[in-house]
Amino acid sequence: MERKTNPWIRPAAPGDIDQIMEIEQASFSDPWQRRSLVSLIGNSRVFFAVAEGEAARILGYVTAWFVLNEGEIGNLAVDPQWRSLGIGSALLDEVVSHSVEHGIETLYLEVRDSNTPARRLYASRGFVEIGRRKRYYRQPVEDAIVLQCRTVTRR
Ligand SMILES: CC(C)(COP(=O)(O)OP(=O)(O)OC[C@H]1O[C@@H](n2cnc3c(N)ncnc32)[C@H](O)[C@@H]1OP(=O)(O)O)[C@@H](O)C(=O)NCCC(=O)NCCS
Repeated sequence: MERKTNPWIRPAAPGDIDQIMEIEQASFSDPWQRRSLVSLIGNSRVFFAVAEGEAARILGYVTAWFVLNEGEIGNLAVDPQWRSLGIGSALLDEVVSHSVEHGIETLYLEVRDSNTPARRLYASRGFVEIGRRKRYYRQPVEDAIVLQCRTVTRR
């Protein structure tokens, strides 16, 4: 797969965390703790990237971690004011490209059953449903749909 370059997508840095936390809290009813996100920065097994707009404004971010030839996408979120502009797609494409480059054959993630925007985005990138985790999420309690993407088919 040809690598897409998005010059405004770059590795997350400690100075981004305040803005990332604002997006995290605006995006999820059970957001990650600040210290959990901080601990991902600089971890060699973690892909943590931000989409940066003008005046160093963080518009979105994505995290994924890798073990052997498998990866798990953790958080993907876009500032509510900047949604539906292709930023979520661009961040997801970066994770997939990074995975292909590093020999990661399969990506997984969980998504809320009712999260139509995210489910459509993942489907458009070749993620398919492989399972359901009953009552996986809190606030509100909801099933998670487990999605899988086989990146080897993209080489
Ligand atoms: C999911 C999310 C990251 C998408 O980011 P985005 O920048 O708005 O997405 P894009 O503009 O790249 O849209 C890509 C595709 O997603 C789907 N999509 C995005 N917003 C949608 C909406 N409101 N309704 C339905 N589908 C939507 C569409 O398939 C869209 O493709 P299209 O533009 O060709 O129709 C964003 O809505 C978000 O941050 N949501 C809250 C956090 C979240 O749920 N994260 C995922 C957790 S698993």
